Amino acid sequence: MLSKSKVAVIGAGKMGETLISSLLEAEVVSNKQVVATAMHQERLDRIAQQYDIGTTTDNVDAIAGADIILVCVKPQAITAVLDEISGHLQPEQLLVSVAASVTTGFIEKHLASPNPVIRAMPNTPCLIRKGMTGISAGSHAAEEHVQRAQFIFDQVGRTVILDEKHMDAVTGLSASGPAFIYVVIESMAEGGVKTGLPRSVATELAAQAVLGAASMVLETGEHPALLKDVVTTPAGCTIDGLMELEEGGLRVTLIKTIVKATERAAALLGNN
Ligand SMILES: NC(=O)c1ccc[n+]([C@@H]2O[C@H](COP(=O)([O-])OP(=O)(O)OC[C@H]3O[C@@H](n4cnc5c(N)ncnc54)[C@H](OP(=O)(O)O)[C@@H]3O)[C@@H](O)[C@H]2O)c1
Repeated sequence: MLSKSKVAVIGAGKMGETLISSLLEAEVVSNKQVVATAMHQERLDRIAQQYDIGTTTDNVDAIAGADIILVCVKPQAITAVLDEISGHLQPEQLLVSVAASVTTGFIEKHLASPNPVIRAMPNTPCLIRKGMTGISAGSHAAEEHVQRAQFIFDQVGRTVILDEKHMDAVTGLSASGPAFIYVVIESMAEGGVKTGLPRSVATELAAQAVLGAASMVLETGEHPALLKDVVTTPAGCTIDGLMELEEGGLRVTLIKTIVKATERAAALLGNN
């Protein structure tokens, strides 16, 4: 789908580089089709050496001739970047922003022309192609633009197309989610350590339990509560563990965690 497209990555930081490396690795674009920008030349020197792609600190140069512009800067840098490139955009160029909190309406308002804009919210497991990306379309984006954006993020994991009103919740649940699960894994592993397991074994057991449980939910399509019931033998050990978990308020804590992260996601741009 992108075999003839030129891709400009504005802000080749952690997420920008993840997308560059995945697109190249999946051979959906060649190194000649990609150009990346960053603030600092040292970063670009490393990126150019590692991926053999074009690099420049000049965003306007980078977007010249690009079919797709992936905007991967922090939310607080986005206004400056949009103001910089706005007057140089060709009407058919597709902008895909991964910036948390930044709406397609905000981006459209900063552009001189009615370019198609897509908002995407990936997460860090994209690094190992196990990511999750929520995607929503701006007011000038057609189905084919959504498909092109989806194709990009399909290279780094699963994708879901959503109405933009849900994107802050995607940020709070799915983009921040891995951090919450790392704490769960760490804590389960501590439980294993407390009961005598070597830490490395405990961490592996905890992580694989989380991976296995997540795969069961995704692959069987069963409700998590039903899957939990299958593990929970009457008068067995799991029900005793579940009682502790309920007493500790894990459920309500996690619900409040996602709500808080979502609220913060909505406020990121305004607070910076
Ligand atoms: N990391 C995540 O888990 C994640 C998940 C979903 C979405 N996102 C979104 O992805 C975006 C980037 O996050 P990140 O974690 O990748 O941050 P990051 O590593 O700090 O990357 C940001 C990059 O933008 C570059 N940059 C800053 N100002 C620029 C400008 N004016 N022109 C061109 N490049 C510029 C920086 O260059 P230098 O390196 O030279 O300073 C840096 O490479 C954010 O908007 C975030 O909301 C991140």
